[in-house]
Amino acid sequence: MRSPRPARLAAVALLLAALAAAAAAPAAAASRDGYGRARRLRMRGKVVEMFYHAYDNYMAYAFPHDELKPLTKGFTDSLSELGNLNLEHLPQDYNGSALTLVESLSSLVVLGNLTEFDRGVSWLSENLTFDVDARVNLFECNIRLLGGLISAHILAKDYSSQNKDGVYQNQLLHLAENLGSRFLPAFETPTGLPYAWINLKYGVMENETTETSTSGCGSLILEMGALSRLTGDPRYEAAALRALRKLWSMRSSLNLVGSTLDVLSGNWIEYSSGIGAGVDSFYEYLIKAYILFGSDEYWDMFHSAYLAVQKYFRHGPWYHEADIRTGEATHWQLTSLQAFWPGVQTLLGDVAAANLSHREFYNVWQRFGVLPERYLLDYGILHPTEKYYPLRPEFAESTFYLYQATKGVIMNNRQIILLGFFFLKILIKQIKII
Ligand SMILES: *[C@@H]1O[C@H](CO)[C@@H](O)[C@H](O)[C@H]1NC(C)=O
Ligand SMILES: *[C@@H]1O[C@H](CO)[C@@H](O)[C@H](O)[C@H]1NC(C)=O
Ligand SMILES: *[C@@H]1O[C@H](CO)[C@@H](O)[C@H](O)[C@H]1NC(C)=O
Ligand SMILES: *[C@@H]1O[C@H](CO)[C@@H](O)[C@H](O)[C@H]1NC(C)=O
Ligand SMILES: *[C@@H]1O[C@H](CO)[C@@H](O)[C@H](O)[C@H]1NC(C)=O
Repeated sequence: MRSPRPARLAAVALLLAALAAAAAAPAAAASRDGYGRARRLRMRGKVVEMFYHAYDNYMAYAFPHDELKPLTKGFTDSLSELGNLNLEHLPQDYNGSALTLVESLSSLVVLGNLTEFDRGVSWLSENLTFDVDARVNLFECNIRLLGGLISAHILAKDYSSQNKDGVYQNQLLHLAENLGSRFLPAFETPTGLPYAWINLKYGVMENETTETSTSGCGSLILEMGALSRLTGDPRYEAAALRALRKLWSMRSSLNLVGSTLDVLSGNWIEYSSGIGAGVDSFYEYLIKAYILFGSDEYWDMFHSAYLAVQKYFRHGPWYHEADIRTGEATHWQLTSLQAFWPGVQTLLGDVAAANLSHREFYNVWQRFGVLPERYLLDYGILHPTEKYYPLRPEFAESTFYLYQATKGVIMNNRQIILLGFFFLKILIKQIKII
């Protein structure tokens, strides 16, 4: 998707996991690669410090709004603003949905701060409501809010079964179910493909746009499938699966999918497509759905789609965009969002391909100090306006998977520590606001 993702906390959590794993490595390995345990623990401490820097300042200055604006100590209600350029249909006294708190719950559990986790859960149970006249983007609301609530619910269940305190009584799951039920009207189209936008209180609005993206229709199955499995209500998974099947039925004879489409007619609008913005998470969700639910249907779709991408979009280690009808190249550009691909290749087990594509993103990262939003492959230069790095977590996630899968083969401990240190240094030196 084109809109910015909640990158900082997610990337920090991944780094933390990678560093913690490395810190736990045996002392012999540590001395062999020259990165001692003490240094790793220091870096781990830095990651924890950064998490609290972000979290505490959000709670102090922006909560219960969605996100902190660090330069002004103001806030933004990003859930209803993402992709909503004209800020249409926002109620006057709207206070957001505590989005950063929801997204931080899982990090609090990873850091072992159950007191703060419980405090967050109590606040959300008592004060969060979705009965608001706000038009939100279905995709963003699904991956961030529904996904955040469901993963925190699963973690809360895990630890309350160990602690037997009885404070946790499925409050997050009830919130998730309430939210999920507000998604369902978006799927009431002749094709089953959902509208991109939904009003949380009133459903699909009059004159709503019928244009959406492939990721908008194809990145719902993990959260909505999990919601059905957890509640026993099959409607969420059924709606998301119907949309995914319809999307896949629209593929070209080359097994490629376009990037934008019309939800009423089920026709493609944009035939030029790649693995970046507008399509990326369609591929990611297919393989992750196969891993999560184990159904061969997801594997069959993923496998055909993956082979087509490797055949028509790949040029050496790079991925360009192409017309899905002819396979002819349309745009030659590397985008920051594409950096999820080596992670997908690792999950699939195509480690040799992951090695190659990861290396190219790594080289571009090294050349510019961060991954630029858009880099023009045919000219070998940055895109004139899209030079920024909006803290996207894709490259960190791919690095983490590749390291976990191939320890010592493609990336040894020393390389992962260096890369982790590299991410951390950039986040602290260039991005952190004091
Ligand atoms: C938002 O917060 C303000 C100030 O606390 C409050 O007056 C208002 O009622 C809240 N709006 C909603 C929709 O709850
Ligand atoms: C948990 O988080 C809160 C809020 O940042 C903090 O005050 C508290 O010290 C943390 N507790 C632990 C054990 O880290
Ligand atoms: C819910 O919000 C109110 C108003 O801000 C606050 O006083 C109350 O403590 C909150 N509930 C919880 C459980 O934190
Ligand atoms: C819907 O769009 C049409 C054509 O632009 C316009 O005439 C009509 O007033 C709109 N209706 C609403 C409810 O906005
Ligand atoms: C990874 O790529 C490099 C550079 O092409 C190559 O030297 C190395 O053998 C590859 N490693 C694996 C495990 O494929």
